[in-house]
Amino acid sequence: MGAGGNAGPHVVRRGPSRIPRMATTHRIALLPGDGIGKEVVAEARKVVDALGLQIEWTHLPWGSDYFLEHGQMMADNWVETLRAHEAILMGACGWPTVPDHIALWGMILKIRQVLDLWANVRPARLLPGIPTPLANRTAADIDMVFVRENTEGEYAGVGGRSHTGHPHEVGIETAVFTRVGIERIVRYSFELALTRSGRLVSTTKSNASRYGYVLWDEIVREVAADFPGVTVEKVLVDALAARMVSNPGSLDVIVASNLFGDILTDIAAAIQGGMGTAASANTKPGSSEPGLFESVHGSAPDIAGKGVGNPIAAIWSAVLMLEHVGEPEAAARLMRAVEAVSLAGIRTRDVGGTARTSEVGDAVVARLLAGA
Ligand code: NAI
Ligand code: MG
Repeated sequence: MGAGGNAGPHVVRRGPSRIPRMATTHRIALLPGDGIGKEVVAEARKVVDALGLQIEWTHLPWGSDYFLEHGQMMADNWVETLRAHEAILMGACGWPTVPDHIALWGMILKIRQVLDLWANVRPARLLPGIPTPLANRTAADIDMVFVRENTEGEYAGVGGRSHTGHPHEVGIETAVFTRVGIERIVRYSFELALTRSGRLVSTTKSNASRYGYVLWDEIVREVAADFPGVTVEKVLVDALAARMVSNPGSLDVIVASNLFGDILTDIAAAIQGGMGTAASANTKPGSSEPGLFESVHGSAPDIAGKGVGNPIAAIWSAVLMLEHVGEPEAAARLMRAVEAVSLAGIRTRDVGGTARTSEVGDAVVARLLAGA
């Protein structure tokens, strides 16, 4: 079983461990989902297979097609099925044939919530050779890690609707912030900051909202006392959004609530070259629950089926997965191969190239087989 969200060299700047281990077979659930998810997950699997590890993949055909046939996004025994694996490599869920809130609450949000995968870690680093829309910025300026609270806040699913059809129809969405939920994500972020620059930004909106984010800020101050080696800065979320664009080099580890983390990491994805490059880990650190690794992007109905989607986000997610299952050296090799391929110009069109999805995967495999 993986160490439960142990961050490796692509989140942490420390090198991989040199302690020799026995080779183990890793059981990985493959959940391609919908649209482009299927195409990019196929590439991720292909490159992981080229690493020569012992991996047993279980292909799970869940998603919107499954919904149309069975009336639900996943099989009844989905929890036990996923728990029989160390990690889940997922594409995306959601497709125009199924209402989005049903698709997402029937799959990705359900998995995160039921398995209590409270830590969503998203590296936002500009890879060599990938263009950024920020003028005069290079890979040296863009290297952040976002830690997003993944189970509560504005996405707790608490609220209701009433007076349906009347002029005064109402929809209420309640944000839920708990001491346990805040403290664990904040503590995790401090620990991560210690392994990197020692700088942590905590972002809230505790000037305009008066309860949940005020509690968040208080807990950050309390936890900070346990981490004298970390400098923590409180930044309001609107100011942080601007700073990510105007001065990304001033940012390293950022901890945010579910909603703010969701929005900020899309900005981060844009400045690191677009949705096609943004990877994520969803884990329950310190537990044996399987981690869920997925590209940040969705099913991309506009380009699905054309073979032009960028597989980097999915492959990078597989790198995070390998770190989670205790294969940091394989993870590092894979990441180096991805960087070499993007630097060499074998890139899909969203990042300024002409390569097809499978050509990027093939190039990464070739690089790995060449012993790079
Ligand atoms: P999207 O991320 O699928 O697409 C947004 C834009 O980014 C599109 O122009 C798309 O072509 C582009 N894009 C996305 N991935 C790309 C890749 N790998 N390479 C190149 N370009 C890429 O977001 P959208 O269109 O809002 O959502 C589509 C569906 O996906 C919806 O049903 C939505 O609910 C779902 N979704 C699911 C997520 C998940 O499973 N975690 C996350 C986000 C959206
Ligand atoms: Mg999002």
